[in-house]
Amino acid sequence: MYKRFYNLQRNPFEITPDPSFLFATKKHNEALAALYYGVRRRKGFVVMTGEVGTGKTLLVRCLLQVLNRANVAYAYVFNPRLSPMEFLQYIAGDFRIPTAGKSKSDLLLDLSSFVIGRHQKNLTTVLVIDEAHHLSADVLEEVRLLTNLETPQEKLLQILLVGQPELDEKLDSNDLRQLKQRIALRSHLGALDLDETRGYVYCRLQLAGQTNPSQMFPMDTILELHRQSRGFPRLVNTLCENALINGYAKQSRSITPEIIEEIAADFRLNVIHGTTVGQAMQGESSGEIERAARTLLDLYAYLRNAQESGADLRMAVGAGARKNEPYI
Ligand SMILES: Nc1ncnc2c1ncn2[C@@H]1O[C@H](COP(=O)(O)OP(=O)(O)OP(=O)(O)O)[C@@H](O)[C@H]1O
Ligand SMILES: [Mg+2]
Repeated sequence: MYKRFYNLQRNPFEITPDPSFLFATKKHNEALAALYYGVRRRKGFVVMTGEVGTGKTLLVRCLLQVLNRANVAYAYVFNPRLSPMEFLQYIAGDFRIPTAGKSKSDLLLDLSSFVIGRHQKNLTTVLVIDEAHHLSADVLEEVRLLTNLETPQEKLLQILLVGQPELDEKLDSNDLRQLKQRIALRSHLGALDLDETRGYVYCRLQLAGQTNPSQMFPMDTILELHRQSRGFPRLVNTLCENALINGYAKQSRSITPEIIEEIAADFRLNVIHGTTVGQAMQGESSGEIERAARTLLDLYAYLRNAQESGADLRMAVGAGARKNEPYI
């Protein structure tokens, strides 16, 4: 409903992971490169972890788009709360291997012949497991057994495990040390910093058709957005989507920090396990964060004054300002 008012051709802040909206930060680039390199070089076992809503599934979808074009067969498990048998049936089914009436050993035999057959034709086969932090110890043991499909030179099945940081904890456990030793590449996604948050928001607005994103989301709004979302992209999207609805209702062309603050309060973003973020962050590091945020606000006010009096804001903030351009 707000699209025409804000000169947008599509919704910029959907929370579904849509590869066409990828904003390639350094971390996202590195993680995607690790996934791709692991598959193409047949490294065997690759792990990507990241906090909630940082773009893991989005990167998996980007990778799958590339694999679709490269004649790579993949099974994509995105709900891993399965028993070992259901897990094997699911993978076999995704590879279009008939599963009806088959025992576990039949399934394993069929899976290995499928993978070996593809390898003999020099074709790559991949198993992607998203939400892998939910995998039970039994299923992780099946995964370990699947990593044994190999020739003396290379792995026959490429396995990508993707999940929240609890996955790292699982892989650190003594029982899973064999699996941990087989990890060839690892990457980790975290929250966006302030500069990336600005680039992220402006990139999405531009991809949705807005030609003047900094007028719609001025820098003091971005600061508030970063503060409230702590740089987690899914939260940034939720805040921005609701800010556009709220801004439209107020017929405000520009989204103000107050709008962001109001929405964050509605979504209770500053409440974590019954304490507010302010309470939870009491301590040395929170003091540093608050001081840094204040310095940034002062710096921004100074730069805005400088700009109003004719100085070049872009030159003043250097490379950071140029990062507003989309990276894709
Ligand atoms: N680098 C990025 N570029 C564009 N959009 C992003 C980026 N990172 C995250 N997002 C967006 O943030 C939202 C959450 O991303 P995604 O679902 O991939 O997170 P996740 O890490 O898989 O979360 P969860 O741990 O809950 O599964 C999506 O809308 C996604 O498009
Ligand atoms: Mg996900």
